[in-house]
Amino acid sequence: PTVVSVSNLARILDMRQKRMMQLMKNWGMEEVKPDLLVLSSEDASLVAVELGFNPVIDDEAAFDIYPDAPPAEPSTLPHRPPVVTIMGHVDHGKTTLLDTLRSTSVAKGEAGGITQHIGAFSVPVGTASENSAIRTITFLDTPGHAAFTAMRARGARVTDIIVCVVAADDGVMPQTREVLNLAKTEENVELVIAINKVDKPQANVEKVKNALLAEGVQLESLGGDVPSVEVSGLTGKGLDDLIETISTIAEVADLRADQTSKAEGYVLESKVDKGRGPIATVLVTSGTLQPGAAIVAGTVWCRVRQMMDDKGQFVKKASPGMPVTVSGWKELPEAGDEVLQAIKGEDDAKRAVANRKREIEKRKILKDVEKINEVRKAER
Ligand code: GTP
Ligand code: MG
Repeated sequence: PTVVSVSNLARILDMRQKRMMQLMKNWGMEEVKPDLLVLSSEDASLVAVELGFNPVIDDEAAFDIYPDAPPAEPSTLPHRPPVVTIMGHVDHGKTTLLDTLRSTSVAKGEAGGITQHIGAFSVPVGTASENSAIRTITFLDTPGHAAFTAMRARGARVTDIIVCVVAADDGVMPQTREVLNLAKTEENVELVIAINKVDKPQANVEKVKNALLAEGVQLESLGGDVPSVEVSGLTGKGLDDLIETISTIAEVADLRADQTSKAEGYVLESKVDKGRGPIATVLVTSGTLQPGAAIVAGTVWCRVRQMMDDKGQFVKKASPGMPVTVSGWKELPEAGDEVLQAIKGEDDAKRAVANRKREIEKRKILKDVEKINEVRKAER
């Protein structure tokens, strides 16, 4: 049953709690669990009616700001870029690898200029794959990695491919095992092994491969189905191979997303910017995000003011697979929060946020009630 605290109700109705409790007593409502100071939604609405309000009981608080739209036939949708998360043990070269990928891609692209670090970036796939459905690959950077964990905790999925970086001079280490286990437990996530730092004299690729085998990773080069590439983030050696491998996996996976629907995505990271206020890097997973859209993430809403891509350029559209920093948030959203565009604009967004806040409050109260009941049981 839905419950509301007396103090919350008083706040909503703009009334002193003491005064409200006095009135409730006058109306003969003292039997309403006064010791817990919570009311059922029915009793709360009675109080509101007595006070001249016209309450609507909405137990199924509109968490879902979408009507039930029929999902589009997947095979008719346009392709989207694969989303790749780089993971691995400390110091095995994740950041260096990403930096090299990024700088070579910036050098290749016409945009030029200074790349902005926004925790995620797109790499265009080279001309070798001209006929490929895969035009770009989205890489999630280390902060994206943190968001990955947060999103996992919420049962959300953005990553299509995990690249597990293993330094050839250090081999399989504790965090390497964590990544391998993660890849095993994640459904619909492909694993690629990048044996890194092969430029080092101490590099021992065979040893790494054997260690991986001992962990149960069946490498392609040893007759299994897990692709591996030998790379050096420092020199750039093998990075073409890595891109090629990712493209191939993505093509087989036939990744598609609706581009015409309302935008959906995830917050990868967020911070307060001196000039722009709260900003968040959003990875769009479906639909198209545009300035002016009203979006909701967790209990925060945003009227999208500006969007900036990974090259620091203002953009007017963000399609699936595209990471953008979004300004216009009323408060700071959390990494890992799902982003949904409100159908009817600002009012919808505000209502969704209010409903969500109410829902959270409700759950807190329910937890308190549970606790009190437990204590009572124990006392008996
Ligand atoms: P954390 O973020 O701390 O987990 O580390 P990381 O995995 O991002 O490693 P990072 O890229 O910071 O590299 C760690 C060290 O290894 C740095 O000193 C790099 O210069 C060096 N390094 C990274 N990649 C290579 C490589 O391919 N070859 C060589 N020789 N050194 C590398
Ligand atoms: Mg790093």
